[in-house]
Amino acid sequence: MARRAERPRLVIDRVPRFITPANEPDSAPLFRRDLPIDEGHGAVVSARLTLSALGIVEAWINGTPVSNDLLTPGWTSYEWRLHSVTHDVTALMAPQSTMGIAIGNGWYRGRLGWIPTQRYGDRLAAYAELRLVFEDAHEQVIVTDESWQVGPSSITANDFYDGQSIDARLADDDWKQPGFSSPLWGAVRVLDYAGAVVSDPVAPVRRIAELAPQRVWSSESGSIIVDFGQNIVGFLRLTLRGESGQVVTARHAEVLDGGRLATRPLRTAAATDRFTLSGGVDTFEPSFTFHGFRYAELEGWPGQPDDVGAAVRAVVIGTDLHRTGHFACSVPELNQLHENVVRGMRGNFIDIPTDCPQRDERLGWTGDISAFAPTAAYLFDVQQFLADWLVDVGLEQSHHGGVVPYTVPDILKYAADPPLGAGSPEATAIWSDASVWVPWALWEAYGDPQVLRSTVDSMVAHGRRVRSLLSPSGVWDAGFQFGDWLDPDAPPDRPGAAKADRGVVATACAYRTAVCISAVAELLDRPAEHEEFARMATELRAAFQREYVGDQRISSDCATVYVLAIVFGLLDSEQSAWAGARLAELVAASGDRISTGFAGTPFVMDALTMTGHIDTAYRLLLQRECPSWLYPVTMGATTVWERWDSMLPDGSINPGDMTSFNHYALGAVADWMHRSLGGLAPLEPGYRRMRIAPQVAAGIDWASTSLETPHGLAAVHWRTDGELVRLQVTIPSGTTAVVVWPGDPDLELRPGSHELVLPRRVARVSDELAR
Ligand code: BGC
Repeated sequence: MARRAERPRLVIDRVPRFITPANEPDSAPLFRRDLPIDEGHGAVVSARLTLSALGIVEAWINGTPVSNDLLTPGWTSYEWRLHSVTHDVTALMAPQSTMGIAIGNGWYRGRLGWIPTQRYGDRLAAYAELRLVFEDAHEQVIVTDESWQVGPSSITANDFYDGQSIDARLADDDWKQPGFSSPLWGAVRVLDYAGAVVSDPVAPVRRIAELAPQRVWSSESGSIIVDFGQNIVGFLRLTLRGESGQVVTARHAEVLDGGRLATRPLRTAAATDRFTLSGGVDTFEPSFTFHGFRYAELEGWPGQPDDVGAAVRAVVIGTDLHRTGHFACSVPELNQLHENVVRGMRGNFIDIPTDCPQRDERLGWTGDISAFAPTAAYLFDVQQFLADWLVDVGLEQSHHGGVVPYTVPDILKYAADPPLGAGSPEATAIWSDASVWVPWALWEAYGDPQVLRSTVDSMVAHGRRVRSLLSPSGVWDAGFQFGDWLDPDAPPDRPGAAKADRGVVATACAYRTAVCISAVAELLDRPAEHEEFARMATELRAAFQREYVGDQRISSDCATVYVLAIVFGLLDSEQSAWAGARLAELVAASGDRISTGFAGTPFVMDALTMTGHIDTAYRLLLQRECPSWLYPVTMGATTVWERWDSMLPDGSINPGDMTSFNHYALGAVADWMHRSLGGLAPLEPGYRRMRIAPQVAAGIDWASTSLETPHGLAAVHWRTDGELVRLQVTIPSGTTAVVVWPGDPDLELRPGSHELVLPRRVARVSDELAR
C-alpha cells in the first residue's frame, strides 16, 4: 500500500555540530567516543541515535552495526539540506558503551560528473546525537563534539566512480570497544553545517540480494573473470586468505568485448577495488563504493580459480523500495524485457533517480525520470522517494532563477568549464519538465494531492520560465534543447542529432506542461493560475497548429512528432486519425523498428494504440531486430540499455560515448505493458476508478498484471480460449472499474473478483513476429 508523502520533519532545531579531523583528513576517517552515560538512573530503557554526515556514514555501538543501511545520509542538494536517519539502538547499549563512526567520501567529497566539477566540500564530517531515556525517566543527550577522537581506518581510498581500497593489515576492531587508546588517534574539531538537517522520509539503501558466481574462468593474461549472470549494482564480498601484503584487484564491467572486460563505456570511472591481505582470513566488503557490473576481473587471486565460487559474492544494493506492480505474459522475451526494466530501476534508484549506475555520471538527470516516472510508480512505491527528490528540484530551481536544471542535485553548476556543455543555462523541454511531469505521475499513481501542494510553486515557476522563452510566433523554437535525444539514426558521436524538429518537440512538451499545471492549479483551487496556464495551453496549441501542422503532415515528418502531437492532445480528432495513419506508415517504413529517441519512445505505443493501430504497435513491441526493445533481450541483456545498439549484433560495443548498459529511460515501455497489454490503467488518480482494456494480440496467449493500489490489490489476467478471451479482474473495495472491449458496450465493475468471457477480436500480428 502506498504511504502518504510527508514533508520531511526538521529534526535538528539548533545548529548541528559535525565533527571533522582537526588535521588533514584521511581517506575514510574513524571517530570514536566512550560514551559518558549518566549514572544513578537505572538502566537505559530507550536509546535513539540520529546520524548524518558530510560524506557517507556507518556507525557501531560496542562493535555492532547500528543498522544495515548503506550510503547514509544519501544525496540531497547539500548546499541547503542534508538528510539524517534515526535508529533505535536500545538493544546495543551497555553500562560501558562506545560509539564508533566511519565516514567515506560518497557524493560529498567524491568525484561527480564527467567534466571537472568542484566537489561539495573537502572536509568529511559526521554528526551523531544519541538520546537516552533511563529507568527513572531521566534523559540524556550525547552529541558529536570536541570530546571525540579521530583515527585512521583500513580504507585507504574510496570513491564511487573509481572504487575502494582496503588494507586488511590496518584493520583492528578494538577501536570500537570501550577503553581503546592509540597514539595514532587525535583531536577533532567542530564544523557547522549551514543548511537544514531533515529526517529522511525515504527507505534507505540496503543490500537487496546476493549473487553467487555463475561462471569463473582464467583470462589469457592470467587474471580470473567472474560472471554473475546479471547486470547489477553493488559490490563484491570476498572472504579469502593469502600472504600478508598481497593485493587482490577487482575490476568491474557490465559486458565483455572479445572476451575481455569492456571498460571503455565506463569512461573515466576506474571501477577498481584493491584489497590488501593481512595473512589471516580476511573478509572485504567495499561499502563506500558501488559499481554497475555483471563481470568482475580479479588479479592477484591467492588461490585457484576454483576457489572463487565459494569465496566471492556480488552484493546487490538499492533503495529498499516496496514492490507494488507485477507483469507476466506468454512471450518469454517480453517477460525478460520487463525483468530488465525492474532490475534497471533497482540499480538506478540509489537514493536518487539516476541516469546510469556505472560510468562517470550516475547523476539525477531530470529528463530520464520525466520519461520513467509512471513506470517507476507502478513497479515500486516511489511516492516518498520521488517526492523527496522533488524537494531538491524546487530548491535547485529557486536558486537558479526559476530554471529547473538538467541534473538534480545539481553538481554540474560547479563545472569548471561551462563551454563543455555543463551547467543548465536555461530550461529545456522534457528535462526541466520533470518539475511538472514527475509530480503529475505521482498524483496519477497514488492520488495524494500533497505532492501537488508541495510542488505547485515549482511547477508554476517552470511554466512561466518556459513561456518567457517562446518565440513571437508562440512556439518554443529557440535556445538549447536535448530534443529527441538518442534518436537511433543519430551518429554515435552526435547523440542529439535527431530527425525530429526541436521546436516541434519542445512546443509539444510545453503544451503538455501547461495543461498539467492548469489542471493542478484547478485541483488546488488556485483559479488565477488555472486560468493563466489554460490560456498558455490554448495559445501553444494554436501556435503548434499554425507553425507545424500542414496538410496531413507535421514538420519534420518523423515518428516522434506524430507521437507527441497525438498523445499530448495537440490535434483534433480528424487530425489524430491522419497523424496515426502517418505514424503507422513511418513505423512500417522503418521495418517495424524503433525510429524515436528519448522524447518519442515513451509514448509511441500509446500513440499507435490511441489511433487504432494496435497491430502496428505489437509489431513494434515484438520486433527483435535492432533497434527494438527486444533486440537487447536477444543479445542476452539483463537490464535496459541506453542505446538500442549499446552492443552491436556482432557482440562488439557501440563506439559512442553514451553506451551504458543500464539506463531506465527506454524501459518506459513497461508502463504501456501494464496499461495496455496487461490492461490495468488508472482512470482517476490513485486508481479510485480503473480502466480494464487489455489489447489482445495474435501470438500472445495470456497476460497478467497486478498492482497494490492505495486502496488494495488490483489484478487483471486474460487468456485466449479459441474464439474467446477469458478475463479475470479483481478490484479493491472503494474503487470501481470499467471494462472497455472492442465491439461491446462498456461494462461497469464493482469491487471484488470477476470472471468474464469475451469474444476474441485481436490485432493482426503475424505469428512469426510473436514467436
Ligand atoms: C545521460 C542521459 C541524460 C543525457 C542528457 C547523458 O549523459 O546519461 O541519460 O539525460 O546525458 O544529455
